[in-house]
Amino acid sequence: MTVAVTGAAGYIGSHVAHLLAEAGIHVLAVDDMSAGLGSRIEQFPLVEIDLARDEAPGVLRAAFAQHQVRAVVHLAARKAVGESVEQPMRYYSQNVTGLANVLTAMQQSGVDRFVFSSSAATYGMPDVDLVSEDQRCEPINPYGETKLVGEWLVRAATRSSDLRAVSLRYFNVAGTGRPELADTVVANLVPILLQRAAEGVPAAVFGDDYPTPDGTCVRDYVHVADLAEAHVRALTYLERDDRPHDVFNVGSGTGASVMDVVEALSRALGQEVATVVEPRRAGDPPRLVASVERISSVLGWHATRDLDEICRSAVEAARAR
Ligand code: UFG
Repeated sequence: MTVAVTGAAGYIGSHVAHLLAEAGIHVLAVDDMSAGLGSRIEQFPLVEIDLARDEAPGVLRAAFAQHQVRAVVHLAARKAVGESVEQPMRYYSQNVTGLANVLTAMQQSGVDRFVFSSSAATYGMPDVDLVSEDQRCEPINPYGETKLVGEWLVRAATRSSDLRAVSLRYFNVAGTGRPELADTVVANLVPILLQRAAEGVPAAVFGDDYPTPDGTCVRDYVHVADLAEAHVRALTYLERDDRPHDVFNVGSGTGASVMDVVEALSRALGQEVATVVEPRRAGDPPRLVASVERISSVLGWHATRDLDEICRSAVEAARAR
């Protein structure tokens, strides 16, 4: 069987693609190569296409038929929150129109298994200890909006056709399963801390006066290799007839503050990561930690790698570069 992985040349997508391949599943990579790296997907056939373009459904239809695609894992999307505020039309076009084109091609081809890459950004600023999937979603930026609209579109498609689908709401993804698949974009906390440490420059801590134990923001960091495994579980789940849920949080279920991450990374590096406290960043919830009850009871998945392992793997990958 072949699974098409859109965004396969990206950091998360490549981890998913390689894990599927290890499980003996054929992978068809789909990527516009705007941010992905060819070196991550050398072993897979590639359809290079911008999914938001009008011709995308036709191109995908032909590729699905040629490669006998049975399921799609859809990760291709724009994901920079700040950029989404500046370029909302681009984000809606890439993330929503791109998704609609993939679903159209699937429907026309009779491909009926779908895993959608969603985000904890759909929740916005929930004022709860652990966020469950039933929490009201109130995204606070266009990126989070496109992921929520995407979930709605996926759900509507399951109601109007034979499509079986789940949406996975990723929390803070970090670390690397293998050095060559590492996150090379310096946009999130762990890569930023690593880069600043390498430059010998203090890293910014955005706010230390939040209502959290040490005053810095608390997040739920999940190892990318664990996250990749959640996709495999989701694909297996879609084979079952008694599917009670379609949305799952993917997190560790434990919170770590910015300073916890700084300390874990310092341990992994064997040297202190210097920091400087800066003003709060706009739109940061003080705490965003997943309830992982549903994914653990329904998919039998839970994170197996902790924050220290996340940091060790990131350091190892940085040293291998
Ligand atoms: N932070 C710093 N200094 C930095 C960068 C980040 O203190 O230089 C802090 C942030 O304020 C935040 C935490 O580190 O408290 C994590 O920040 P990231 O930018 O790494 O991640 P976010 O929690 O803002 O967002 C991430 C993804 C989103 C996703 C969200 C879901 O980037 O795409 O998790 O939880 F939607």
